[in-house]
Amino acid sequence: MKHIPVLMAEVIKFLQIKESMRVIDATCGAGGHSHEFVKLVGESGQVFAFEKDEKSFEALLEYLPEAKLFNKSYTEMSVIPKPVDAILFDLGVSSMQLDEAERGFSFRKDGALDMRFSKKQTKTAAEIVNNYSFLDLRRIVKQYGEEKKAAKIARRICDARAKQKISTTLELEKIIYMPNYSDRKHPATRTFQALRIETNSELLTVERGIEIGIRMLKSGGRLGVISFHSLEDRVVKNKLKEFLGSCSCPKNLPICVCGKKAEIRVLTKKPIYPSSLEVKTNRRARSAIFRVIEKL
Ligand SMILES: C[S@@+](CC[C@H](N)C(=O)[O-])C[C@H]1O[C@@H](n2cnc3c(N)ncnc32)[C@H](O)[C@@H]1O
Repeated sequence: MKHIPVLMAEVIKFLQIKESMRVIDATCGAGGHSHEFVKLVGESGQVFAFEKDEKSFEALLEYLPEAKLFNKSYTEMSVIPKPVDAILFDLGVSSMQLDEAERGFSFRKDGALDMRFSKKQTKTAAEIVNNYSFLDLRRIVKQYGEEKKAAKIARRICDARAKQKISTTLELEKIIYMPNYSDRKHPATRTFQALRIETNSELLTVERGIEIGIRMLKSGGRLGVISFHSLEDRVVKNKLKEFLGSCSCPKNLPICVCGKKAEIRVLTKKPIYPSSLEVKTNRRARSAIFRVIEKL
């Protein structure tokens, strides 16, 4: 399936992408957003695109020759000279990554339980599933999957692996499956989300990326993040809050001594969601949540 970029019109509008700008696409993926950025910034501008996945990066070399491409994590974006005008983070997986069974991201296709964005990372989802203790499995499934049945799922995983190593996505899906699971989602959805987050340290990485991104922006520059589930969005929202400069002094102090100053203003008091038309034409857009800030 071709990857269709999400919230394209909203991204261009809120990040005010235009001629001569220096723009960072932190998660270039299939290059959908960057393809538009390149056209809009023109020859006088520059697009710097980061993509951690080696295979996606290979394809970008052909698709986006006008962009400056980096096969690196966005946490390394400070390799670019400061400042930049706009930064986009479009989190999660691309349609190509979901489609490639051997990447292990989807429980609808049989493949090795891998889930790494980059082959340079050492820890795979299989290692987590086969080696983490019951308590650690329960914790990550509960915390990162926001799964009510985390204890039951962790117990099933431990029981199954005591008999035989769990190697593939469909093996794991069968172990988790509960016919009377109350959620409207497939019973494996939340556990697979949790494993992907743990495999790639996604939440810590996005927090770090936002922090570095804000430092890279010029005054008046904008940073936008598209998240795909409520936990990710909460992490983004809370990280951004840290730059709003709210006083952290103990309540009993008569005056502020922490001296915290706002570094950003939030442009999306309420987050932006895709239109119903976009959701109809691109199913992946249905859970997208977009937040944008401006550096002061
Ligand atoms: C949803 S896709 C981006 C799609 C892209 N905006 C497009 O329109 O084609 C997210 C991408 O971020 C990449 N990614 C995940 N973590 C990353 C990181 N720390 N640094 C750079 N890229 C990362 C993934 O490999 C994936 O290709």
